[in-house]
Amino acid sequence: MGNMKKDEVLRFLRSSPSGHVSGAALAAAMGVSRTAVWKHIKTLEREGYAIEAVPSKGYSLTSSPDVIIAGEVKQGLGTKTIGREILHYAEVASTNTLAMDLAQKGAADGTVIIAETQTVGKGRLGRTWTSPRGNLYVSVILRPTVPISKAPLITLMGAVAIASGVRRHCGVPAGIKWPNDILLSGKKVSGLLTEMSAEPDRIRHIVLGIGVNVNMDKRALQPNVRRMSTTLATATKKTVDRTALLRTLLIELDLWYQRFLQNDSEVLAAWKELNVTLGHRVAVSGGSAKLEGLAHGVDAEGRLILKLDDGTLRQVAAGDVTIIKQ
Ligand code: BTN
Repeated sequence: MGNMKKDEVLRFLRSSPSGHVSGAALAAAMGVSRTAVWKHIKTLEREGYAIEAVPSKGYSLTSSPDVIIAGEVKQGLGTKTIGREILHYAEVASTNTLAMDLAQKGAADGTVIIAETQTVGKGRLGRTWTSPRGNLYVSVILRPTVPISKAPLITLMGAVAIASGVRRHCGVPAGIKWPNDILLSGKKVSGLLTEMSAEPDRIRHIVLGIGVNVNMDKRALQPNVRRMSTTLATATKKTVDRTALLRTLLIELDLWYQRFLQNDSEVLAAWKELNVTLGHRVAVSGGSAKLEGLAHGVDAEGRLILKLDDGTLRQVAAGDVTIIKQ
């Protein structure tokens, strides 16, 4: 209800011949108080509209937010599974949480959930994913009919698709840091978080959550995260069209998802091709103990194989990798 009044304010602002509408005129036309009008204006501003208040003239709309329109993303998409259904939200707690709920309620294989911003974005290892406007926050519902042992490969598949899509769309040399951080010049530009619902012998559904730093103002990030992050706008020195980028990413995801279903060895091979971890000396933290050694390989389940200094091999299932420059 409040939303409809807010949209009405927007319509008045857009259709005003002078470009300005006074608060009093808005209030009278809508049959609400001036305070109510002011509240709607504040809501619009929070959504990314720039509204100027000029004394004696009134409000004027100076710019509209850059929001993704699902129908535009679908134009020319042509994918088999991914994005046949696209749901867009202005703000959610977490697209992953919402996608898990919708999947539980029966949402189709390939359903895509996007939000302009998240209030409780989730990162790996229980961390939060700060989610200011201007980026992509996407979750994809997958219902692969493969054994549970193949589930970790989905995360690697996602990383391959996003790194490839970023390369193709922006012409920048994106690489993958184990397990699934996408890096540009050593800084993180995208992260993936996979969640799964399964029975002992069957995957019910998997949600592949993807956060891409596109056009955000990096000052929105905590200083420690900011130092290690970059955005596509920074790397390409221009504002990136998020709709076109998202379309490319969904096309790549569809391609790699079909490959994963048909012949998953291609996924691991492509991951190895794009990775920037193997062959380097690394420190792994965040999992159990802190380990240091040579990143020797990844196994079929996506675990990192570390060669310790005494020559023994250790499999690492989760953690954060720091590449040690020598
Ligand atoms: C990481 O690198 O720690 C993973 C970050 C994953 C963030 C994305 S944004 C869309 C989706 N929804 C979430 O709450 N998280 C993922």
